[in-house]
Amino acid sequence: MANLAVFASGNGSNFEAIAKELAGTEHSLKFLLCNNKNAFVLKRADRLGIIKYLINYTGKSRHDAEEKMIELLKLHRIDLVVLAGFMKILTPLFVSEYSNKIINIHPSLLPKYPGTKGIEESYYSEDKELGITIHFVDTGVDTGKIILQKSFVRSGKETLKEIEERIHILEHLYYPQVILELLNKTGIK
Ligand code: GRF
Repeated sequence: MANLAVFASGNGSNFEAIAKELAGTEHSLKFLLCNNKNAFVLKRADRLGIIKYLINYTGKSRHDAEEKMIELLKLHRIDLVVLAGFMKILTPLFVSEYSNKIINIHPSLLPKYPGTKGIEESYYSEDKELGITIHFVDTGVDTGKIILQKSFVRSGKETLKEIEERIHILEHLYYPQVILELLNKTGIK
């Protein structure tokens, strides 16, 4: 049995897919942490009955914001931190505190197109094969050790929206599975 926390800043479709996959397992999604008071993910947490914490970075140093976050992680005895569209970079302090226990999902085949425009940059590239990457988080931007990549071949006729949808389908299918596998592995707990 292990505990996880999800950090998200926006829509939260991955958060919801993860919550649904974990319901009925021995593992527990203890809370959602969000840095954006207007994010739709907060409504999803309410609907799913999952505790949510809002950490406002404005007027705070990143260090102070992260100290609060670490406090919450310790309070809830969190074993795995799952980033799902969390739009803040974690400092080396935070990453070292949870070394090899923070994972992220990125909507491109890393190392191609890191950063916030993964889908658009993939779409407007010449690449025929597009996809997703699930990886451990290190102190770089989308540079940590890769756990899983899944891809598809596009025809070239798809719209950006259609490509976005295909990417999200892969995310919602594989991110919850990878999380469950990590939680099931001894070593996480
Ligand atoms: C996903 O595309 C994920 O790969 C990226 O941020 C997006 C979050 O989407 N890191 P959602 O908020 O889970 O719907």
